Amino acid sequence: MADDLRLVDVQTEHLDDVLRVRSRSFGLMDSGSRDEWLSNNQVFIDDRRMLGVMDGDELVASARYWPFEQWWGGRKVRMAGVAGVVVAPEYRGRGVGSMVMRGALARAVEQGYPLSALYPATTVIYRHLGYEFGGGRFRYTFPAAELRSLGGKEVSVRRAGPADAGRFLELAGQLHSSGRSNGPLVWPEAKVAEWLGEDNSFCYLAEDGFVVYGWQNGKLRVEELIAGSEATVRALWSIVGSGSSISTDVEAYISPDDPAHLLIAMEADKHAVIEHWMLRVLDAPAAISARGFAPGASLEVDLELDDSELSTNTGRWHLSVSGGSGSLTRVESTGDALRLGSRGLTALYAGTPLASVRKAGLAWGGAAADDGAIDTAFSGSTAYMLDYF
Ligand SMILES: CC(C)(COP(=O)(O)OP(=O)(O)OC[C@H]1O[C@@H](n2cnc3c(N)ncnc32)[C@H](O)[C@@H]1OP(=O)(O)O)[C@@H](O)C(=O)NCCC(=O)NCCS
Repeated sequence: MADDLRLVDVQTEHLDDVLRVRSRSFGLMDSGSRDEWLSNNQVFIDDRRMLGVMDGDELVASARYWPFEQWWGGRKVRMAGVAGVVVAPEYRGRGVGSMVMRGALARAVEQGYPLSALYPATTVIYRHLGYEFGGGRFRYTFPAAELRSLGGKEVSVRRAGPADAGRFLELAGQLHSSGRSNGPLVWPEAKVAEWLGEDNSFCYLAEDGFVVYGWQNGKLRVEELIAGSEATVRALWSIVGSGSSISTDVEAYISPDDPAHLLIAMEADKHAVIEHWMLRVLDAPAAISARGFAPGASLEVDLELDDSELSTNTGRWHLSVSGGSGSLTRVESTGDALRLGSRGLTALYAGTPLASVRKAGLAWGGAAADDGAIDTAFSGSTAYMLDYF
């Protein structure tokens, strides 16, 4: 095997190679999904968001990222959502995966993304590159009969479809901003419209909320439910629960902090499923200034960052938080400061208590007396996503 490995931008003519490596990594794709996959990937190629590794004239690895925004502290932060990381089996275990991922990280930085996130199949490679757990995708199960009796009949609700994509995004935006959400993704409007138009998307819209649900393995499953008032929470869940004669349980992707948990009885004996996703701060000052912080928090503290992959983050910084906003500015000061690598900074950014970050060996130094104020600044609701990508 000639080792003439080089990083490239994937081109349309490489897609057959990508598909071959992908099949050997994730399983075969049915012929119906192939066309959608090809047209999606053409957009990644056009936007230079798909990187590959070539050996001679053969493509042996690839990775790409979605142009997402993600809510942090109730503000939208641009986030490169890495997916489709694949290496041909005969090339694994010798740095090819790391090479293609480094290419994707460098491109995301160049394109101005302060954050990146991904769903890891293994954490090892991504931790080496500075990613750490950021949050989860939580799936809960509720007895449908409980949902059916939640009421809310006074709320007017209508069927919705692709033409309502803009309104869906607007409502989600209002609620994530006022609720200071952490973690949910913002998809491009065209993708939202596609999703609302799917045969298995049953969409209902109220004045201040919406629900999208469908069938999954013989059960009803809520993909997203957003509501701005108790009456609408009750109305939308009870629409889903009206299917209780066929689907005795309803599964739902929702936040662990969703009001549903406080309203619905009989959840106690049901299992929850959590898929963890990882996050990486790519551009520390941009990531800090883009997100929202706890509104009452005020913080002035020096940080010493050491980022072995993205050296522009390395060095001494001053973190200032007040009025719900933060900034990170370079300082020349010396002496003790809270020291963090990329994984420690990322865990903190995602709301992990500093005591846990320290005990995992991902933060050192600084005045322990500052830890409480730092935790308060980064605190908020549990970071979650509804979507897998
Ligand atoms: C996961 C994958 C992309 C890694 O590619 P690779 O070229 O083997 O990775 P590298 O050689 O750069 O390895 C980087 C580090 O990750 C570790 N690693 C790689 N694959 C691993 C696995 N399956 N389990 C545990 N650790 C793994 C390596 O040991 C290495 O760590 P080390 O330096 O401490 O030994 C590749 O195995 C693959 O394509 N797998 C199938 C598809 C898949 O799972 N993709 C990831 C989706 S998130």
